[in-house]
Amino acid sequence: MKTLLLRASLLIGLITMGCESGETDNSEANNEDYYMETHRPQIHFSPEEHWMNDPNGMVYYDGEYHLFYQFYPDGTTWGPMHWGHAVSKDLVKWEHLSIALYPDELGYIFSGSAVIDWNNTSGLQKGEHPPMVAIFTQHLDTGEKAGRNDFQTQSIAWSNDKGRTWEIYEGNPVIPNSGIKDFRDPKVFWHEASAQWIMILAAGDKVMLYGSPDLKTWEFLSEFGADFGAHGGVWECPDLFRLKAENAEEEKWVMLVSINPGGPNGGSATQYFIGDFDGKTFTTDQAKEDIKWLDHGRDNYAGVTWSDVPETDGRRLFIGWMSNWDYAQVVPTEKWRSAMTIPRSLHLVQGADGYLVASRPVSELQNLAVDHMSFASAGLDEDAVFSLNTSDQKVIKAPFRTEIIFDAEKTTSTEYGLILRNPSGDQYRISISQGSIWSDRTNAGKKDFEERFAKMPHQGGQVVPDAQNEIRLDVIFDKSSAEIFVNNGEVVMTDLLFPHSDFHEVYLYTLDGQLEIKRFKTTELKSIWQD
Ligand code: FRU
Repeated sequence: MKTLLLRASLLIGLITMGCESGETDNSEANNEDYYMETHRPQIHFSPEEHWMNDPNGMVYYDGEYHLFYQFYPDGTTWGPMHWGHAVSKDLVKWEHLSIALYPDELGYIFSGSAVIDWNNTSGLQKGEHPPMVAIFTQHLDTGEKAGRNDFQTQSIAWSNDKGRTWEIYEGNPVIPNSGIKDFRDPKVFWHEASAQWIMILAAGDKVMLYGSPDLKTWEFLSEFGADFGAHGGVWECPDLFRLKAENAEEEKWVMLVSINPGGPNGGSATQYFIGDFDGKTFTTDQAKEDIKWLDHGRDNYAGVTWSDVPETDGRRLFIGWMSNWDYAQVVPTEKWRSAMTIPRSLHLVQGADGYLVASRPVSELQNLAVDHMSFASAGLDEDAVFSLNTSDQKVIKAPFRTEIIFDAEKTTSTEYGLILRNPSGDQYRISISQGSIWSDRTNAGKKDFEERFAKMPHQGGQVVPDAQNEIRLDVIFDKSSAEIFVNNGEVVMTDLLFPHSDFHEVYLYTLDGQLEIKRFKTTELKSIWQD
């Protein structure tokens, strides 16, 4: 890369600035140090302090999106698990609530789900409103330490006050363990056609399906997966839901299965299967060795979808834990550890080889937009670097969102993309080359805490889907993460970054050829924790 040069003739007059107003109200906002620690995500959910892993019990009820999560309130590494709790009215701003579930004599509270029992099938309703029922794994540490294989069982608890207080069901466990060492993470939904609750549960290297009339008594239905998909590690946190194909009438069932280790770039990742479900069995035409990854980055794990989102909304909403078991417990944050991804909607779209599941940031993120800079049809000459900051004398600082449409037909570069730099000499690069995309954090900041953190993906770049000679990049940068959505979310990469100081310069670059851009927009986003 050599000079700093943009074909000025094209650029002048094309840069427009704007202001977008979004709603802000954060009750904690009077304290200006609140959520301002080094690396603290500004537009992602993170606990005020202590350790967090998987999202749990996501359910929508009466205007609130509930987010429970694996939480250890006495330290910043994994420990005896509780369910922490937060709610949001818009999936963007979160209000912290008290811990919902505590370990008891049946064990720690591991991952699971929550549903609204609209017809009171469980009989747990008190008063006029339907109960919120949580279904989760209990992990008996002493059983594990004694070398037994039956230390994970499934339990339920219910709340009659919108998840604020909980009662533990006295008949727990509702599914005992018959000797399967990894037997956990129940996700439950009501299946109208067979008029029963369905539970999907991870069981070692496969999933098991159970059915129930009342959330209390469960019958084994079927299993899936022992010879399908990726098996480099244990299966965890499954989900099963229906998605209507975009621009078509067809509906398919999608199964998410997280796997650790064995992800495409090492450590934790989430695979999915597309098929059918008849109330008893999940089947797929997918070839056994066909592995589909929901996210090709390193840091989107154990994600599942919200239950009970109103049909008038119609979205299948997802959130993942933005970390990786390879290094989650040693990342350089002090007061808290881990954040969630930006909530995303999932879409069934037609790809080159059949359906695929695309992920897109929720539209509510736009509520955080404060200021933007955009231009249309610009070109970048051979071997040039263009600083977006110098063009309008503005310092671009995370959190921000950059949306670019590259003209793939007219671009002749062998490599092009986006570079973020800071005064500390760190550099984060998103590069597109020969139809593949890379997220390169090898020199993007702190990395010595774990050697697996900053390795380049060992499988090389991820193939970029062909979309009418355009490549659309939508990247959300926060203080310590980049979430890359390519071509409307058909390829996604989520990666943590720990720069020594804020990235404050953004560059476009091209190597060995000319880069043509159809549209460019960078939007500054405001913190969800400050006014
Ligand atoms: C996934 C996981 C789950 C388990 C939980 C324990 O990250 O290992 O399988 O329920 O974390 O915290």
